[in-house]
Amino acid sequence: MSKPKVFLTQLIQDTGMSLLEGHVDYTLWSIDGKPDPEAVLRDIPLAEGLIMTMGIRMDRDFFQKAAKLKVASLYSVGYDNVDIKAATEFGIMVTNTPGVLTDATADTAMMLMLMSARKARENERIMREGGWTHWSPNQFVGKDLSSSVLGIVGFGEIGRAVAKRALAFGMKILYTGRTRKAEYEEKLCAEYVTLEALLERSDFVSLNCALTKETAGLIAERELRMMKKDAVLINTARGAVVDQKALFRACSEGWICGAGLDVYEKEPVPMDEPLLKLENVVMMPHIGSAAVRSREGMARLAAVNLIEALEGRIPPNLVNPEVLKRI
Ligand code: DGY
Repeated sequence: MSKPKVFLTQLIQDTGMSLLEGHVDYTLWSIDGKPDPEAVLRDIPLAEGLIMTMGIRMDRDFFQKAAKLKVASLYSVGYDNVDIKAATEFGIMVTNTPGVLTDATADTAMMLMLMSARKARENERIMREGGWTHWSPNQFVGKDLSSSVLGIVGFGEIGRAVAKRALAFGMKILYTGRTRKAEYEEKLCAEYVTLEALLERSDFVSLNCALTKETAGLIAERELRMMKKDAVLINTARGAVVDQKALFRACSEGWICGAGLDVYEKEPVPMDEPLLKLENVVMMPHIGSAAVRSREGMARLAAVNLIEALEGRIPPNLVNPEVLKRI
């Protein structure tokens, strides 16, 4: 019996590739490790299943061309690059990889917070340039995390994992989001506040919300101006949650102390991005989930979701369960 035809934008870890063997007939859509958009356009009508790594927009037009597609299995927890409504209308299941990257992403937020707080970029540069000539009470001094107020925007799994870590650092926790999550407040010593109160009271603001119509551009000039002048903005969510031009002004004109970023409006970040010039902005290349066990977990989940869907079962991480009424 012939196996379902599957395309992958990129090679994923063996934890996923080995599961595919025997279940599907797969082809890689990449050249030198990068997804090849021309191959995607050429082959999409043949695909019954897809494993999609970050970066390719799947809109109505994409799904319209995918006449045989049953499942788009995302190698990510975020699915803001997918038109879920269109996928559902075309009877296509969309799956993601929640849970396995929660800790790695929360670790990334803490790393950015610590690097920003202790001026890691500037201090390292000064040292490498020979500027560490003597010990001084006032040189290289940054901010304490302990006793600082951390405001978390989005109190889902990742936001709460950040809170857990911050609590261990002795931080006070505020959070905001669409809904109050009273069941976690006592354990995480977290106080639910409005976005405005959070911005005004926090020393560090960590963005951990999904990118949706409601959160696109959530942090723009007005919000940045509401933050304390010595506050730091951390973004491990999605770049488009922040107005990046306003953030550049905020960090270069001193509305806030700085930022720690893992995600951007445009990825990879073009080399003429003004934020690259600022030393008070720590920038990482979207490494939130880039830790061995997390990536292995993502590969495994992406393969399991794909196989379950193609073999007629409900995949464990179905993003659009409404689709089941259509297939
Ligand atoms: C995700 O899975 O959405 C992450 O951003 C990838 O690192």
